[in-house]
Amino acid sequence: MASSMPFDEQAARRIEAVYASPDVAATRAAVLGALEPRPGERIVDLGCGPGYLTRDLALAVGPGGRVHALDLSGPMLALARRRCRGLPAVGLAAGDMTAFALPDGSVDAAVAVQSLAYVPDVARAVGEIARVLRPDGRAVVLDTDFASVVWHGRDQARVDRILAAYDAHVAHPGLPRRLSRLASDACLATVRREVVPILNASFRPGTFAHGIAPFIRDFVVGAGRVPAKEADAWLAEGAALDAAGEFFASLNRYLFVLRSPG
Ligand SMILES: C[S@@+](CC[C@H](N)C(=O)[O-])C[C@H]1O[C@@H](n2cnc3c(N)ncnc32)[C@H](O)[C@@H]1O
Repeated sequence: MASSMPFDEQAARRIEAVYASPDVAATRAAVLGALEPRPGERIVDLGCGPGYLTRDLALAVGPGGRVHALDLSGPMLALARRRCRGLPAVGLAAGDMTAFALPDGSVDAAVAVQSLAYVPDVARAVGEIARVLRPDGRAVVLDTDFASVVWHGRDQARVDRILAAYDAHVAHPGLPRRLSRLASDACLATVRREVVPILNASFRPGTFAHGIAPFIRDFVVGAGRVPAKEADAWLAEGAALDAAGEFFASLNRYLFVLRSPG
């Protein structure tokens, strides 16, 4: 299994909508700030999803650069293709980040944003990043640690059951804690680590929490981990908490800048 979660048409569209939110746009800005893509560079975007970052990278490297964007999911690649139309730097390909068709040492930089945690053989994917980076190349990796999720509920035990069940949507819910070790095993040095938090004190359309909650509901119910009635009651509680001025949800994403040996 190359990913813990298949991103079908519906999941891809939902992720596209959630990732348009200002909360996730701020995460992308942090990634771009850490990567500092420059005109003419060759960059690989691993697990490019709907292609928001791919597009930003293509605009930064310009027509003289190259952004290789790779994803397992056909529906995600279709969204990325539409988003990157007219950008000559972008090359989109279906592929697995544990084994992809780029030569050794062929890119200046790699990014893997909210994608490595889905890969069961994550050590192999980190090894692939190390393989394709040129000497003194850099990579930016960002993933959520799902133990950092704080979601207030009047029935907190119900929230905790739902969040515990949701952990199974990724292969590695605690990946950030292990990432520097995985990187050093692949001869990549960690040169910077940062927390990139998301905090929502309201449950309104356009917030990350409002967008991701139905995704969580469908995953935990579809996987048979939580009864639909319980998950629906949790989902409905968001609006009630919001109306009472009591909604509170937060999580941490962790950003790593890695470097290959010079
Ligand atoms: C949550 S989305 C993140 C998308 C994008 N990086 C972003 O931040 O907008 C995770 C993506 O990783 C992709 N993915 C998961 N496992 C993969 C693998 N083994 N190889 C390539 N892509 C993978 C999924 O198909 C999905 O599009």
